[in-house]
Amino acid sequence: MDSLLIQGGVPLHGEVTISGAKNAVLPIMAATLLTAEKCVIHRAPNLTDVSFMGDILKSLGATVSIDGNSISIQAARLTGVGDYDLIRKMRGSICILGPLLARLHHARVSLPGGCVIGSRPIDLHRKGLEALGATITIESGYVVAHAPQLEGADIFLGGRAGPTVLGTANVMMAATLAKGTTVIESAACEPEITDLADFLIAMGAKITGAGSPTIRIHGVDQLHGAEHEVIPDRIEAATFAIAAAATNGEVTLKGARADHFGAVIDKLREAGVKIDRRGPDIVIKRGSELKPVDVTTMPYSGFPTDAQAQMMVLMALSPGTSIMTERIFESRFMHVSELARLGTDIAIEGPSSIVKGGRPMSGAPIMASDLRASAALVIAGMVARGETLVNRIYHLDRGYENIDTKLKMLGAKIERVEEP
Ligand code: EPU
Repeated sequence: MDSLLIQGGVPLHGEVTISGAKNAVLPIMAATLLTAEKCVIHRAPNLTDVSFMGDILKSLGATVSIDGNSISIQAARLTGVGDYDLIRKMRGSICILGPLLARLHHARVSLPGGCVIGSRPIDLHRKGLEALGATITIESGYVVAHAPQLEGADIFLGGRAGPTVLGTANVMMAATLAKGTTVIESAACEPEITDLADFLIAMGAKITGAGSPTIRIHGVDQLHGAEHEVIPDRIEAATFAIAAAATNGEVTLKGARADHFGAVIDKLREAGVKIDRRGPDIVIKRGSELKPVDVTTMPYSGFPTDAQAQMMVLMALSPGTSIMTERIFESRFMHVSELARLGTDIAIEGPSSIVKGGRPMSGAPIMASDLRASAALVIAGMVARGETLVNRIYHLDRGYENIDTKLKMLGAKIERVEEP
């Protein structure tokens, strides 16, 4: 297993190009199952989650070829049963359920388990697909779905923590081939949903309203092959922006969409970070002294839960008290105990973390627990005095394309080493 060895105290300087969005490409790959024709996806990030999804599609009978950042997928013939172990390993794989049901009228997909950030139920996916006429049961760890004919319906998809991103994706994909019109209310508004809708529209689907809480889908008889370029990853952009501010550097983000991470930009500015738009580029620079801020994670366009851990590192550097409240996942504070090893003072109280910032950080061996926690630990390691060893970084490779190479190009002293 790999680890990252980081010498802290080096400000990041230079330019970094933002890769395609992990959370956009995964449902788009699943959507290719809706047609027998070939689809080509460009700006696909080179991530282990993407190759995992490729393997899942192959196990269902599709041909998948990855050439640099382009992926060609053709699901000419399909079986409705995916490889149990492959699917179980990746939560994002639940979004093959809707396309399989629409194309084959049946699906048997292993139930994605909970994970360290929370219990991750699928009741809303189920509610949406059942409203379209599917019968869904859980049998021996599989989600088993049947639907001789999907029919359009009015579906409210809001849940305890707001809308569901992959639930919206699943229902929207299934509805493209349903008979009649489907209206999803309280749909997720994330840019990844809009990107998926754009791909489906390119395949011949009739969808309006994606990106708003009400999405209308008029079912069509069949979809065809399409070519699509994935949107840039707003969470990668947010991560590099926070890293630039935390290390007191100056970094230009190339290819990022500022309108996709406005809530992060807003909070960084409130914390005293200077952010300038220069044409298509976004320049991040620590301004005056950092200030404490309070942040609550919310569905889009609120502050994203996927940037919560990274933002907490900046809070730990800002003299004074900051409060981070996590409203999307119930146990997404795994990074707090690891950050404490570096000298931070953070207390968890229910869904909030109280961060007493401004304490000096010094390097230590620490352990990554999930993707975004890992990114936070790497940022903290780049700030802490001395040497930090971040273990179990396979989480990072699931969601950040070449993160160590990109950070090195910005001047970070970071090496991939074998876990001791
Ligand atoms: N929820 C339910 N029932 C459901 C589905 C979700 O109660 O049937 C709850 C969840 O427990 C959570 C909330 O609804 O409290 C939101 O979950 P959502 O369904 O939106 O999450 P997801 O679609 O499974 C995607 C991303 C996550 C990201 C969340 C929230 C992918 C592959 N994953 O997950 O990304 O945190 O949306 O924005 O798109 C990450 O990239 O690190 C990551 C975890």
